[in-house]
Amino acid sequence: MQGWPSGPGEGSAAGAVPGGPGWRRRPRPVPSRPVGGGRQRGGGGGGGAAAGATADAAELPLAMGGGCRARAPPAAGLRLLLAHAVLLCAAGSAAGTGSVNPCCYFPCQNQGVCVRVGLRGYECDCTRTGYYGVNCTSPELWTRLHNLLKPSPAFYHFILTHFKWFWDIINSTFIRDTLMRLVLTVRANLIPSPPTFNSDYGYISWEAYANVSYYTRVLPPVPANCPTPMGTKGKLQLPDPQLLAERFLLRQKFEADPRGTNMMFAFFAQHFTHQFFKTSGKMGRGFTKALGHGVDLGHLYGDNLQRQHQLRLFRDGKLKFQVVDGEVYPPMVTEAPVHMVYPSRVPQEQQLAMGQEVFGLLPGLCVYATLWLREHNRVCDLLKRDHPTWSDEQLFQTARLILIGETIKIVIEDYVQHLSGYYLSLKFDPELLFGSQFQYRNRIAVEFNQLYHWHGLMPDSFIIQGQEYSYKQFLYNTSMLMDYGVEALVESFSKQVAGRIGGGQTINANVLHVAVGVIQESRQLRLQPFNEYRKRFGMKPYKSFQELTGEEEKAAELEELYGDIDALEFYPGLLLEKPQPNGIFGESMVEIGAPFSLKGLFGNPICSPEYWKPSTFGGATGFEIVKTASLEKLVCLNVKKCPYVAFQVPAAAEHGSPRAAGSSTEL
Ligand code: HEM
Repeated sequence: MQGWPSGPGEGSAAGAVPGGPGWRRRPRPVPSRPVGGGRQRGGGGGGGAAAGATADAAELPLAMGGGCRARAPPAAGLRLLLAHAVLLCAAGSAAGTGSVNPCCYFPCQNQGVCVRVGLRGYECDCTRTGYYGVNCTSPELWTRLHNLLKPSPAFYHFILTHFKWFWDIINSTFIRDTLMRLVLTVRANLIPSPPTFNSDYGYISWEAYANVSYYTRVLPPVPANCPTPMGTKGKLQLPDPQLLAERFLLRQKFEADPRGTNMMFAFFAQHFTHQFFKTSGKMGRGFTKALGHGVDLGHLYGDNLQRQHQLRLFRDGKLKFQVVDGEVYPPMVTEAPVHMVYPSRVPQEQQLAMGQEVFGLLPGLCVYATLWLREHNRVCDLLKRDHPTWSDEQLFQTARLILIGETIKIVIEDYVQHLSGYYLSLKFDPELLFGSQFQYRNRIAVEFNQLYHWHGLMPDSFIIQGQEYSYKQFLYNTSMLMDYGVEALVESFSKQVAGRIGGGQTINANVLHVAVGVIQESRQLRLQPFNEYRKRFGMKPYKSFQELTGEEEKAAELEELYGDIDALEFYPGLLLEKPQPNGIFGESMVEIGAPFSLKGLFGNPICSPEYWKPSTFGGATGFEIVKTASLEKLVCLNVKKCPYVAFQVPAAAEHGSPRAAGSSTEL
């Protein structure tokens, strides 16, 4: 715990029941200032509360008026503390209450819930956190044991990405299943289900649960009217987002991802995620148009019934299509009149109609839209062969479920497998979870959306069959898809290396404005500091900017701008963290991203015991399509001549991860 004075000794405080539910009934009095001026931190999670408890010796009213008080500070840091006390009073007065909301200090550790009580008090609800005490910092016995045995993220990452010979053995035994089950349950358990907060509700409410137009939130917003924008730490004003982006995020020199991630991966990431990341322009930040909150393939079928109907052929379950030079492509909007986002220079006859409004932006997105459209219609043919009596509706609906299953299979076994760099072979098998308690539901979180802004993947220009295209030539290039055809584009995307995402200065100037928008959004929605998220996802908070970046120069600049590592924002933290050895980004992106991702994938209803059976997918044929799907099959079963296709460039694939290209034998 950072900087929270605990009053009477944490852990033994009256009102907290050791080993009990930890719900403290008597409100804590508001602290008059944050603890001891400097950074007093007790390791990860909640150790710091003890430091807070010791700083409580004497409280001296400092004649601030309006009930504002600050304790007599230790000699060192006196000025800082006085300044802080003034700050607190100012903020309290600004709130019209004369006191600071104690939850601005983020006093509750280990997932304890902070509730403001009265004007100056707070309570931490430690129920089922495994901790007790005023600030949920005292571990129960089993928690103590668990913490003792729990390896650090860096340790298990190292093990999982080394000793290939060892993993080759493990992967052929039942231990693979055991480990996969462990990965799934540990990760998915970090995501609250049902969802809890959202950007308007920092407490549990029916509205936050029932109104699916909101993205959910894992951590509630920083309370309104805190002393500083990030709670109580850092400066009164956050650094200018444009300045932050230009100084720390703007790419100076292209750095290829060290593990050879390619453009085929980058466009897959963008295509796949834009079915559930669809921030609402009308309702504003914090709201989504993708009400399915997961893998529903709304980017193929539209996010509402009207759009779906415009895109459907209403024959044999199929989607509308057009044939050009003997190849199937998505129809034009003249044939499937759906709203698409194109610049005004693109006439309607050249606008492809796709499930997602924005997919005209990039030929890479059009390629995936084409592949999935072909796959849908191919699956419909297979279903019709087995079920000649089925209606168009049943063929359509069943094909959709098969494609959802295929998507999840590809995402886990090709996409996440590549991204993780693990030698453990990841497995999509919903039955792994049938023995455990697991909620088959999902709600997309605003934090997940923020962290997935992987614009660093984008290169400085796009190389198609040896020809270089600038952003200007590539964006909204509506003729490229049919001029080159799917094979040529897949091969080119698979051979062009993508950029590294993490480590700072990785974003091309053409997309830097998106990063600026992400930072602005996080402020508007009052996302909690990066270090609070580190703790929430089981990591130790960083103690300094140097520890975050692993170097001195940028760290010093950041310190200057933010004033305190505990005031660093979520998205800059993720992008500026030193990458893992040979990794595409840092530890936090993995530790925070993986739980959202796995929960979203396995939380899909098709993974539930009620759905996961052949009949859901039209019988054994459909079930088999789901169970054997791969990126390679998606491409090669839907083109005439199978190109090089993988999520890594050929050189990396040769001596790369266990599931390198060409490993599929089912074609
Ligand atoms: C040249 C390629 C790309 C361009 C021009 C581009 C452009 C944009 C733009 C203009 C936005 C909307 C920003 C806003 O509303 O403030 C956006 C959002 C987003 N982009 Fe990209 N992007 C590209 C590639 C990618 C890639 C490879 C990813 C990786 C997953 C990605 C992930 C996202 C996400 C998650 C959002 C938020 C979507 C939402 O909430 O609606 N983008 N991008």
